[in-house]
Parts: sequence; C-alpha cells; structure tokens
Amino acid sequence: MTVLHIDSSITGENSVSRQLTSTIVGRLTRADPSARVIYRDLASQPLDHLTLEDFADSSTLDEFLAAETVVIGAPMYNFTLPSQLKAWIDRILVAGRTFRYTANGPEGLAGGKRVIVAMARGGIYDAGSPASALEHLESYLRGVFDFIGITPEFVAADGLNFGPEQRDASVKAALGETLRLAA
Ligand SMILES: Cc1cc2nc3c(=O)[nH]c(=O)nc-3n(C[C@H](O)[C@H](O)[C@H](O)COP(=O)(O)O)c2cc1C
Repeated sequence: MTVLHIDSSITGENSVSRQLTSTIVGRLTRADPSARVIYRDLASQPLDHLTLEDFADSSTLDEFLAAETVVIGAPMYNFTLPSQLKAWIDRILVAGRTFRYTANGPEGLAGGKRVIVAMARGGIYDAGSPASALEHLESYLRGVFDFIGITPEFVAADGLNFGPEQRDASVKAALGETLRLAA
C-alpha cells in the first residue's frame, strides 16, 4: 500500500491537524508495515499558484493517483482551506484524468482510493450553530473529492480557540476518532 501524507498547517509542531495526520498515518503503517509513505509538507515546500505552464507537469497528480490511501491535514483558515492546500487541489482536479464531462454530466474517475481528511478548526460549525454558514472547509473538500469519485472520511478537532479546556477535550476526542478511522 502507498500512503500519501499531506500537511498544510503553518503552525509547525503546535499544529493539531499535523498531530492528527501523523497519528492516522502511524496507525495505518502499524496495520500494514509494508506500507510506503510519501510525505508532502505544503507549508515548508509550497506549490506555486497554478499557471497554465503547470499543466505540463503532472507529477502532483501522478503521485495522488498512485496512492491507495491519502491522508490530508486541513486546518481552517478564514473559513476555508489554506491556499497551500488549494494549490495542491488545483493540480489534482484535471479533466480527463480525475473527472470527465459526459452527456449525463460530470463523472469522477479517481474512485477506489481512500481519502482521510483531518481537520482542525478554531470555531464550531455544526449544522444549526451560529457560524454554520461560514463552513467552507469540510463542505468544499467533500464536494471536491465527491466530484472526482471519492467519498472522503473526516475527523475533526473543533472549537480549538474556545480556551484550553475545550481545546484539550477536542483534540482528545479527535485522536479517539482516528482509532475508528484507521481500523
Ligand atoms: C491564518 C489563520 C486563519 C484562521 N481562520 C480561522 C477561521 O476562519 N475559522 C476558524 O474556526 N478558525 C480559524 N483559525 C484557527 C485555526 O483553524 C486553528 O488554530 C486550527 O488549530 C489550525 O490548525 P492547525 O492547528 O493544524 O494549525 C485560523 C488560524 C489561522 C492561523
């Protein structure tokens, strides 16, 4: 199994999403010690904003397509994903490779892959909560992966900026969720 491990948080070792992705990848590799892990840190080694010339280089897409499991750290920045992660998404949504348009509408071509997204959010965006209309991280990533034929799995640590007690409880609960995810 090839695991593609992607982080995008700018907060280094204080990052909750990084803690979650490393826990998930650790569990995956313990379950399958022969697994090969490819690690991409989009904060320390960012991709450029997409240009037309970039379409000639499909290395990011090929790496994504070759992985059986993809683990993505997704912090919420300004109600959506970091631009570092968006630059990666811009390289994996490619017509003719990961989706195509048919007479019946768009069709995803990248199915059969497991995608696990570990989110870290300062606030709380549950349905019905005051800020729910500002949730453009999970909804965006779910839409993007659904579009290319993948149903992503999510684990979330929320309310991280609501004080140390809430933060600790939320991280603990999310780490517990990773046990279920990686099974
Ligand atoms: C630049 C920046 C923007 C942020 N914007 C939001 C936001 O819009 N909504 C929110 O709930 N939290 C926001 N936060 C808080 C982060 O989601 C929170 O700190 C989370 O832990 C980030 O993930 P990380 O710990 O992996 O870095 C922001 C944090 C940063 C650094």
